Amino acid sequence: MCGIVGVVGSNQAAPVIFGALRRLEYRGYDSAGIATLVDGRIERRRAAGKLDHLAALLDRMPLTGVTGIGHTRWATHGAPTENNAHPHGTARVSVVHNGIIENFEELRRELEAAGQVFTTETDSETIAQLVDFHLSRGLSPRDAAFATLRRLEGAYALAMLFADHDGLLIGARHGAPLVVGYGEHEMFLGSDSLALAPLTRRIAYMDDGDWAVVTREGAEFFDASGERVEREIRTTALIAGAVGKDGYRHYMEKELHEHPVVIGQTLQRLIDPATRRVVLPDLPFDLASVPRAVVTACGSAFYAGMIGRYWLESVAHLPVDIDVASEMRYRDPPLTPGGMGLLISQSGETADTLAALRGMRAQRQHILSVLNVEQSTMARESDVVLGTAAGPEISVASTKAFTAQLSVLACLAIAAGRQRGVLSSDQEQALVASLLDLPSRAGEVFDQSDAIREMAAVIAGARDVLYLGRGSSFPVALEGALKLKEVSYIHAEAYAAGEMKHGPISLIDQTVPIVATVPSGRLFEKTLSNLQEARARGGRLMVFTDTQGAERLRGLAEIVVAIPTVDEFTAPVLQTIPVQMLAYEVALLKGTDVDQPRNLAKSVTVE
Ligand code: F6R
Repeated sequence: MCGIVGVVGSNQAAPVIFGALRRLEYRGYDSAGIATLVDGRIERRRAAGKLDHLAALLDRMPLTGVTGIGHTRWATHGAPTENNAHPHGTARVSVVHNGIIENFEELRRELEAAGQVFTTETDSETIAQLVDFHLSRGLSPRDAAFATLRRLEGAYALAMLFADHDGLLIGARHGAPLVVGYGEHEMFLGSDSLALAPLTRRIAYMDDGDWAVVTREGAEFFDASGERVEREIRTTALIAGAVGKDGYRHYMEKELHEHPVVIGQTLQRLIDPATRRVVLPDLPFDLASVPRAVVTACGSAFYAGMIGRYWLESVAHLPVDIDVASEMRYRDPPLTPGGMGLLISQSGETADTLAALRGMRAQRQHILSVLNVEQSTMARESDVVLGTAAGPEISVASTKAFTAQLSVLACLAIAAGRQRGVLSSDQEQALVASLLDLPSRAGEVFDQSDAIREMAAVIAGARDVLYLGRGSSFPVALEGALKLKEVSYIHAEAYAAGEMKHGPISLIDQTVPIVATVPSGRLFEKTLSNLQEARARGGRLMVFTDTQGAERLRGLAEIVVAIPTVDEFTAPVLQTIPVQMLAYEVALLKGTDVDQPRNLAKSVTVE
């Protein structure tokens, strides 16, 4: 969701803030704004739409000053207009906010009764007005900020700038991420370390409820009760170069091409190549005695979890429940004592997944999270983190994080199978061998780019598309449909192929192409029958298969994309790549904003 940045330095702040906003734009791009202190006065520039609009405004009306804050917005309350853009504030204080203030209406009524004059409909302005109210009664910025934070309910990450206090920022976090960066005579606030990557690698991660007083000399941290606390400064591994496009047209294209290396790097962390065994980090619980796993996540990460379920059940004989986190958090399911909560998230900040994690913890589950951002809130609240080595994922639509998550989940299933005594050493070595084969096989998928483009030409002309798959190919179909919707705005639905005849088959005609994922293996013939049923009703079939299955499908389907044949176990990892590539190619044909599709944002830190 919204991206926040703050700078206290000795150089001009606005260009530094703008650069950081560019790196944060993936968190929201409805509108953006910057405020700085100019001779003690707060000056701001705001623009609706993408950052380029703010850039044009800053060209016409530059902002000077060495202390400032900036924001890129994903609208929650109030339309994405200039007036609703952040920073919000008064002559005394300016605030940028990520999150939702749940009690803003009550606070607003109180403040209006006390004479504060509001200029927007946003919940965020309430924060600024509350700080202003306290400042107007003589409180110092620090005391006014603390008095304000005590009244806020909901989720927030905040940065505040105060008139007549050059060299001072106050940041706070509660349910939304915020980090403090340490430069040379320069300090930063940022939604994540990626935003600050070229500026500094020395980062302090704030705990939930923390607030910080940041000056040129450093930062003082306080907890929610106002007690002074220490927060460790860590050196992050992120390097600025990792966030460029490297000559690709879009981050999505670049990240698609990173699948082979990301799978390889992730497996490298968990597999000993000499023994061909999975080596997990020490777990604070025993996979052998876990009675049940409950898997939860959102969006693509949830689909990765669905594939993980197939593996945990079939390879480790571990009973698994699964639900999307936004449902899980309110279902209040009674969980088996001593069970394992398995959370999957690229960002580690997704509000629903985090809430589900906390719900599972309350029911004394062991919390194992599969995360890409290892300094995230979820990482800090988990018993153990299995990291995905996907590197920064900038495209709003997730791609490489998905195959990295699958790589981890496959290793987890193998380790669980061994520890539970249901997987022999030979079986483990065979599965590991097929995993280790994936990076090079993944590279070969790109040989099919032309056939995928041919398929994209058909899909781009459709209004609705049906995706089908069985077994572990069903989540691949779900992922394909989600990706197509996200980046091309074409309506797509995914069904378990066997469910077709129970309803969706009535949709089939020449105008609704069917995209099926049909790797060779146990379920090949079954899926083939479903496709024949669709063909008999005039459906246009587009099929992803492997070299072994291709021959049988050529007579049936209009377009067949055959990627390398791999073990049935690893097939969903490889089969995901072409369905994601298809979505990208369709988006190119439709001319959409591939990396920043409308209405979306990465890292969904609100409910
Ligand atoms: C799809 C996509 C989203 C995310 C979901 C979870 O392309 O990006 O569906 O997968 O919002 O996000 P994380 O993994 O950060 O929890």
